[in-house]
Amino acid sequence: MADRLSGTCRVPGDKSLSHRALILGGLAIGRTRVTGLLEGEDVLATAGAMRALGAGVTRQADGEWIVSGVGIGGLQEPDTLLDMGNSGTGARLVMGAVAGHDVTAFFTGDASLRRRPMARVTEPLSRMGAKVVAREGGRLPLALTGAAAPMPIIYASPVASAQVKSAILLAGLSAPGDTTVIEPLASRDHTENLLRHFGATVTSTPTNEGGRRITVTGQPELKAGDIVIPGDPSSAAFPAIAALLLPQSEITIEGVGINPLRAGLFETLHEMGANITFAKRRIAGGEPVADLVIRAGALKAVTVPAERAPSMIDEYPILAVAAAFAKGRTAMHGLAELRVKESDRLSAIAKGLSDCGVTVAIEGDTLIVEGKGGKVRGGAAVASALDHRIAMSFLMLGMAAEKPVTIDDGATIATSFPGFVALVNRLGGSIAPA
Ligand code: S3P
Repeated sequence: MADRLSGTCRVPGDKSLSHRALILGGLAIGRTRVTGLLEGEDVLATAGAMRALGAGVTRQADGEWIVSGVGIGGLQEPDTLLDMGNSGTGARLVMGAVAGHDVTAFFTGDASLRRRPMARVTEPLSRMGAKVVAREGGRLPLALTGAAAPMPIIYASPVASAQVKSAILLAGLSAPGDTTVIEPLASRDHTENLLRHFGATVTSTPTNEGGRRITVTGQPELKAGDIVIPGDPSSAAFPAIAALLLPQSEITIEGVGINPLRAGLFETLHEMGANITFAKRRIAGGEPVADLVIRAGALKAVTVPAERAPSMIDEYPILAVAAAFAKGRTAMHGLAELRVKESDRLSAIAKGLSDCGVTVAIEGDTLIVEGKGGKVRGGAAVASALDHRIAMSFLMLGMAAEKPVTIDDGATIATSFPGFVALVNRLGGSIAPA
């Protein structure tokens, strides 16, 4: 168990933006230079897929990446399987890009990805003219033949998912006229921002029901442009919460993206009484960025409304850890989507916390955590279920608990946060090989 965390660090580049930089760079005309790309396995799988589709994707000696785009309509048929590894974002967004091209591609992934629902994207992509043959439940492996003449659609998505929205917008790039997605709650808008950065016309307006209506005008010429990727707020969340929980800690995480549609965790932590400040706020690469300064302190329970879920959808595992140490009962509403992430996160969080001596309940799609108002017992062996965020969350719990926690598989962390263990230990953490 660690004493306290202190010092300054930077977390790897934003995963969502990294996927999009490679895909949109591949669809643009010209060379896109990407600084700060996340070199995690998920993003490297997307790099491989874009290469197989004909884009030039190379890493320079200085760590910058160059994407040589083929232009919309220019993707070629891959002569090999597209193995998207663990990445739902990579799989679904690349499917969207392929759906607007007259080529056939075969998608697969690891055991976790092969369990995840793909019909949420293949169904609207089929309406645009793509043909899909998938396993039962629309699961991978699947074959997708893009439309020779894709049709623009207006699609009211039943889920607030940036992946669904992005897949349709990417296919819509090849269609004549306007393609529109209506989402029930606003999800992260990185695709829209980057499309505009590359010269496409994208409008986004609030709906009366609290969601958004996003329209892309098809067949633009995307012009390559440089992209600077900020640190991933979803990765920063792990050391940030460890610093809140370990008494006397004070850390700074530099250059973290604080896009409001990603910042729900920080809003929630502020409501819990956390001492987190955003220093040196600036715009970098079109996204708001700040240095996060985090100081340890007691947390109190909070109710997290369902409407906030899309802006912190990946942060519930680590928020649940914070809630376990907070004083009082925390209720997190609207978590149905957690069942279809890299693992069934609702079950994985509840099982892990309960094994660590915390009282938890799942009521419908609400997660309830009875906070200890102090140290959690810990002492469990937690199954990470091929889920990087479950693995990292319980390692953070173990550092602040009375007894250490072991996880069965740390390899999965490399999908999103290469160097995680070394970074946390440099700050004073205590993660050791089992
Ligand atoms: C992502 C969107 C979210 C998130 C995922 C990354 C993206 O998924 O969980 O880690 O980059 O678009 P959904 O859009 O399916 O909720």
